[in-house]
Amino acid sequence: MTVHERAFSRMGAQLTGSAIRQMGILAAGRPDLISFAPGYPDPDTFAWDAYRDIADDLLRAREADLLQYGPTRGYAPLLEALVPRLRRQGVACTTDDLLLTTGSQQALDLVTRLFVDPGDVVLVELPTFTGAIAAFRSAGARLVGVRQEADGLDLAHLDEVLAVERANGARVKFLYVIPNFQNPTGGLLSLAKRRALLDWSRRADVLLVEDDPYGDLWFPDVTRAEDTRPIKADDDEGQVVYLQSTSKTLAPALRTAWVVAPPAVIERLDVAKQSADLCSSTLDQRLVLEAITRGVLDAQLPRLRETYAHKRDVMAGALARECTGLASWAPPRGGFFLWVQLPEGLDTRAMLPAAVEANVIYVAGAPFFVDGSGHHALRLAFCAASVSRIEDGIARLAGVIRTAAASGRPVPPAGP
Ligand SMILES: Cc1ncc(COP(=O)(O)O)c(C=O)c1O
Repeated sequence: MTVHERAFSRMGAQLTGSAIRQMGILAAGRPDLISFAPGYPDPDTFAWDAYRDIADDLLRAREADLLQYGPTRGYAPLLEALVPRLRRQGVACTTDDLLLTTGSQQALDLVTRLFVDPGDVVLVELPTFTGAIAAFRSAGARLVGVRQEADGLDLAHLDEVLAVERANGARVKFLYVIPNFQNPTGGLLSLAKRRALLDWSRRADVLLVEDDPYGDLWFPDVTRAEDTRPIKADDDEGQVVYLQSTSKTLAPALRTAWVVAPPAVIERLDVAKQSADLCSSTLDQRLVLEAITRGVLDAQLPRLRETYAHKRDVMAGALARECTGLASWAPPRGGFFLWVQLPEGLDTRAMLPAAVEANVIYVAGAPFFVDGSGHHALRLAFCAASVSRIEDGIARLAGVIRTAAASGRPVPPAGP
C-alpha cells in the first residue's frame, strides 16, 4: 500500500469513474470510433460566429470586471435576465431565488451537500443520470430506486418505496427527477404525473430535486412546449429545487447553469459554493448573458429541435431496419437519448469489447440503475454523431448484438 493509499479517506478510496465519461475518453482518442456514448451536443449547432463576435466585443471593451472574480451568487445582470425567461416557462421567481452554478453537475453536488448526511435516503428513478448518482453517493447517501412507466415515474411504486423506507426508520431527504427527456431513457413525465408528484411531495414532506437540462429540446412533431412545463411552475410552497443548464442549448464549455429555490435554500447553497469554487467563470457568464440579450439562444432553439428530431428519426429508422426482432426501443419526444432493451440474458457491458472492436460505442445500462439491474439495456446518444455515422454505427451495433444473441448462450455478466 502506498502512502497515498494509506491516506485516502473512506470516500476517496471508493471513488470510481463514471461509465459515461470513460466512454467519452475512449472516443476522444479514436476518431474512427462511432460514439453513441456521451450526451455531447452536435458541434455543428454551436453558434460559433456569434460567440466570436461577443467575445471580441467583450474583450475589446477591456472592462476590468470581465476577467475578475465575480459574486458567488452569479453575475447580477445575468440573474436578472433569467427571471423573465423562467417566468415565461411558468416559474415565478426573483433574483433572490437564483444561484448560478458551474454546470448543473455543480448544482447537484451543492444540493447534496446541503441536504444529505451519510446514511440518508435519496430516491431516484430507475434508471437515472450517473452524474447525479455519483454526487449523491459522494455524500454517503443511500440511493433507493423507483420504477418508471411509459409516462414516467410509477407513483404506486413510489408510495410503496417510501412506506418501506419510513417503516425502517430511514430519513428520506429528496426525490431526484428528470421530467423532460430523461437521461438515460429519453422519457417524458406526463403532466398529470407532474401534478401528482407535487402533491406527493407535500403529503410525504419530501423535497423534489427537478433536473431539467433538456426541457427546451422538445421535438415539434410529437411534443408541445406545454408538455415540458416544469414541476417547479406549480410549486407555491417551495417543495421543488429546480435546475436548468445552458450545456445542451448553448454549449457545455460555458459551464453555466442555475438553481431556482426559496431564498433560505439559495443563501446556504451560496455559502456551499464559496468553498467549492468562489464563483463560476465571469467570462462564461458574460458570454451567456450576451447570447441571451442578443437573441442567440432564442434563435438557436428551433434549429436544435429540428436537428435533433431529424437525428432521432435517422437513428430510429436505422434501428428499425437493423434491429427489429433483436431489440426494443421507443423513439423519444425530445432530448438526446434513445434507450434500447435487448433480450434478457444479454449483458451490454460484456458486449462492449466486441462493440469497440466493431468501432462503435454506447453506454451500458447497468450503471444507470441503483438496484443492480439494467444489464440488458443500453443508452444511445444520437446528438453528436453525423447522420451518415449514425446509420453506419447502428449497422455495426446490430452486428455485435446479433453475434452475442447467436452465441447460443447468455453473455456472462461483466465483472464489477
Ligand atoms: C440529467 C443531467 N443533469 C445534469 C447534467 C450535467 O450538465 P452540466 O453540463 O450542466 O453540468 C447532465 C449532463 O449530461 C444531465 O444529463
